[in-house]
Amino acid sequence: MAEKCIDNYKYIFNPKLLSGKVAFVTGGGTGICFTVTEILMRHGCDAVIVSRKLDKLKESAETLSRVTGRKCIPVQMDVRKPESVINAVEEALKNFRRIDILVNGAAGNFLCPASSMSFNAFRTVMEIDAHGTFNVSKVVYDKYMKDHGGVIVNITALLHVRGRILQAHAGSAKAAIEAMTRHLAVEWGLNGIRVMCVAPGPIGDTEGMSRLGGALLTEEMEKSIPIQRIGTREDIGNTVLYVVSDAAQLLTGTTIYADGGSWLTDSNNYYEAVKTGGLRKLSKM
Ligand code: COA
Ligand code: NAP
Repeated sequence: MAEKCIDNYKYIFNPKLLSGKVAFVTGGGTGICFTVTEILMRHGCDAVIVSRKLDKLKESAETLSRVTGRKCIPVQMDVRKPESVINAVEEALKNFRRIDILVNGAAGNFLCPASSMSFNAFRTVMEIDAHGTFNVSKVVYDKYMKDHGGVIVNITALLHVRGRILQAHAGSAKAAIEAMTRHLAVEWGLNGIRVMCVAPGPIGDTEGMSRLGGALLTEEMEKSIPIQRIGTREDIGNTVLYVVSDAAQLLTGTTIYADGGSWLTDSNNYYEAVKTGGLRKLSKM
């Protein structure tokens, strides 16, 4: 299904906030990172969106350019393959000569109990999320940010914070990214680079939600979240916008929990899920 831009986007920041800047967004052709790209572009930024499926990227780039009036270039890339990352970053620099903002949003996930997860399943998610984030950050650093500074935003999650059920693979990968964020923030601060994580909670209308049990979300569960609702893609786009803006100059090496407080109140009750059969239903999603 084609990605759609936000109807009646409400500007909070100055629409020229990111004028003259360029963002490189992995996973920017779909879901949360499509909307992150849209919101950055609505604030004057040009963008390069990268992932494996070129047709999807082309369609999304066309929509983003049409709606925002900015330039968006689709480039095919697999975050697991350093050669492909190098080619994509070179292509971006050939077109725009700069990359001020890197958003590492590419990820893979599914529900699976650790006991039945194959070695390759665990490795695959670690490679896309954790290795992928390192690969892209390193190439963008080497080829541009080392000499010009910038902001790197890693999209993580809250899975590892309390040990979310059926998420040992993705939680481990996101935890690794959070640690990496602190290491890179320390080492690359001297180059004028800030490195941050934005950790969404459950976000409606996304692939992640549909893969991770979104269909089982009840009104009662939503009402148990402190802000009384799950998040939207727009919420995450606005959070990333704040993080990359000069308003966030003190933020580096840390994680913003963008989840309305749901990690505090979510039941995450493995034993109850086993007892009621909920675990069986989730494992089949
Ligand atoms: N449950 C358990 N294991 C699964 C699985 C599932 N639902 N889906 C895939 N796997 C396993 C495969 O069986 C395989 O392991 P095996 O070789 O031991 O059988 C391993 O994971 C790799 O699968 P494969 O399909 O070869 O990987 P891929 O690189 O083509 O795709 C995925 C990566 C599996 C993460 C795929 O779902 C994907 O591309 N996801 C991107 C979109 C996404 O996940 N969005 C949500 C982000 S929150
Ligand atoms: P999504 O639309 O499926 O986004 C994942 C993106 O990653 C896709 O665009 C996919 O594109 C790309 N990708 C996957 N493997 C890749 C690879 N090897 N190389 C390059 N790109 C690859 O899912 P989403 O739900 O919006 O999730 C976006 C981000 O938010 C992820 O980091 C996710 O972990 C995080 N998150 C989501 C939620 C949620 O509720 N949805 C909650 C917490 C965190 P291709 O298939 O074209 O490669």
